[in-house]
Amino acid sequence: MVGQGVLRELLLDAGVEKVLSIGRSATGKSDPKLTEIVHADIADLSALRGRLAGYDACFFCLGVSSVGMNETDYRRVTYDFAVGAARTLAELNPRMTFVFISGAGTNSKSATMWARVKAETENALLALPFKAAYIFRPGFIQPLHGIESKTALYRIPYKILGPLNPVLRKLFPGIATSTEILGRAMIKAVRDGAPKHVLESRDINAL
Ligand SMILES: NC(=O)c1ccc[n+]([C@@H]2O[C@H](COP(=O)([O-])OP(=O)(O)OC[C@H]3O[C@@H](n4cnc5c(N)ncnc54)[C@H](OP(=O)(O)O)[C@@H]3O)[C@@H](O)[C@H]2O)c1
Repeated sequence: MVGQGVLRELLLDAGVEKVLSIGRSATGKSDPKLTEIVHADIADLSALRGRLAGYDACFFCLGVSSVGMNETDYRRVTYDFAVGAARTLAELNPRMTFVFISGAGTNSKSATMWARVKAETENALLALPFKAAYIFRPGFIQPLHGIESKTALYRIPYKILGPLNPVLRKLFPGIATSTEILGRAMIKAVRDGAPKHVLESRDINAL
């Protein structure tokens, strides 16, 4: 859902020259600016190294809900995938800006497993030698333009609350954003920078 939101904005943005999408499944999108790599093992990008240089930004949108997962498995998808990919990209693209999708409530001191793992991931990414790194911590994201989350846990409440989404965003700018605003804000952070390196919903909406 988040990845599709950013991809849509990237393809619409006249200032974006080309987009390389990497995921374990195809996006289903076709566009002259888009190249896709379907790669099953995101933990190991070594076979792709020759195709990963020359980019200004990475929008790392892969992520899962922790529901039903133990810490080892959640850490592998959250920390290992993101930090592993980021290390490879930083080595190949020292002028790159790295954008990571985290979540509201992330906290290194939390008793909640996902909040701690996401915080560790954020800190590891912020320490890498990129031109800049930005952490986006949305709460409630309104999916627009036909985009849906693949995660049922997110999809079902959004379907139920769908008609209320614009109202929620107006009433609670500190909690709610949309896939379009999120995508535009991520691109803006790369292009012009952002006032903070860790952005909550209110900062994302302002950007
Ligand atoms: N949606 C929200 O409201 C919301 C709010 C705050 C934060 N977030 C965060 O945003 C991130 C993405 O959420 P989303 O709603 O966009 O989820 P989503 O629609 O379920 O998309 C998740 C993406 O991650 C990929 N992925 C998951 N596990 C993988 C694995 N083991 N190997 C390779 N790829 C894998 C999925 O690939 P496939 O397409 O092949 O399944 C999919 O492309 C999560 O970290 C979530 O915590 C989401």
